[in-house]
Amino acid sequence: MTNGRIPTVRLGATGPEVGVQGLGCMGMSFAYGPSDAQESRATLERALELGITLYDTADAYGQGENERFLSPFFKAYRDRVVIATKFALSIPPGEPTRRVIRNDPPYIRQAVEASLKRLDVDEIDLYYMHRRDVNVPIEESVGAMAELVRQGKVKHLGLSEVTAAELRAAHAIHPIAAVQSEWSLFSRDIEPNVVPAARELGVALVPYSPLGRGFLTGSFTNADKELTSDDFRRQQPRYTGENAAANAALLDPIRTVAAGHEASLGQIALAWAQQQATVHNLPVVPIPGTRKPGRVEENAGATAIVLTEEELAALEPIASKVAGDRYADMRFSSAGRE
Ligand SMILES: NC(=O)c1ccc[n+]([C@@H]2O[C@H](COP(=O)([O-])OP(=O)(O)OC[C@H]3O[C@@H](n4cnc5c(N)ncnc54)[C@H](OP(=O)(O)O)[C@@H]3O)[C@@H](O)[C@H]2O)c1
Repeated sequence: MTNGRIPTVRLGATGPEVGVQGLGCMGMSFAYGPSDAQESRATLERALELGITLYDTADAYGQGENERFLSPFFKAYRDRVVIATKFALSIPPGEPTRRVIRNDPPYIRQAVEASLKRLDVDEIDLYYMHRRDVNVPIEESVGAMAELVRQGKVKHLGLSEVTAAELRAAHAIHPIAAVQSEWSLFSRDIEPNVVPAARELGVALVPYSPLGRGFLTGSFTNADKELTSDDFRRQQPRYTGENAAANAALLDPIRTVAAGHEASLGQIALAWAQQQATVHNLPVVPIPGTRKPGRVEENAGATAIVLTEEELAALEPIASKVAGDRYADMRFSSAGRE
């Protein structure tokens, strides 16, 4: 960190300048059990002090609740924050395991208005398509998103969980600033195809769940036993039952590397994600999620850690040994279609 603030990077060839680590805000309203609003607000403030400027939300997080919750913070610091939100995905009330995906232009036009209203801003800095509906040609969806840029409702475009071919087709219609996909010591399925395509096109990578949804920090080892009944991680195959027990044992090399740096496990997981920028030669801005000011400080501290070749080699085998998929239904992930 320079002067207590994290370094900055351009988010792809066409994107904005942002702190090299962003903040995932999803857990403040959704997916990971009860949150304390005051503590979440303090986390947002502390993040900004540390130079974290990219704030990640989506209309799906709590059916708009997350965007509404963040709105006062964004308004207070409008010229200092980069607001990223997403459309395409909804989870019907009372059906936590069902996903409805819409990519059609009329839906996009309606979704952006709803997000702008909830966020209470004139323009969204980075607007992502959250999930792919394969029944709608991506050219049509990105065409509608590009129209929002021309109308001044959106500044930059992003895509989440797209394949390399989908990214190329989209980028041919309008420059894509960033691809947001799961990327961590446990989830590396984007490396063979999506990452090289992003590098070639000048698109940044925004790794989501870089802490393996908290598992890589060692803060929980079995979702069934330790997390509340509504916690999304109880639906994910790798964090429950026998898989969780097997995966917990994979943290040992991270522990060894962490001890050498007097760092936490989470800091090593984040340093690894960050360092993929050098390994793959493209801009990488991980967005760890937290609702605690102390943790945002700890996570920002990871931007100062550089792993050696030997340490990277010690961490290399982990992902191939992970038991269980990252989603119960992999069709909605890029790897499921690649
Ligand atoms: N595009 C997509 O499809 C997609 C999917 C998932 C997530 N996302 C975005 O990516 C962001 C990050 O992903 P994520 O939240 O799923 O997973 P993550 O960042 O890998 O992990 C978040 C979990 O780790 C815990 N945590 C954070 N820092 C910690 C620390 N220093 N020590 C111990 N535990 C710590 C958090 O708990 P506390 O909150 O209690 O600190 C939370 O339970 C989300 O907020 C969301 O904006 C996008």
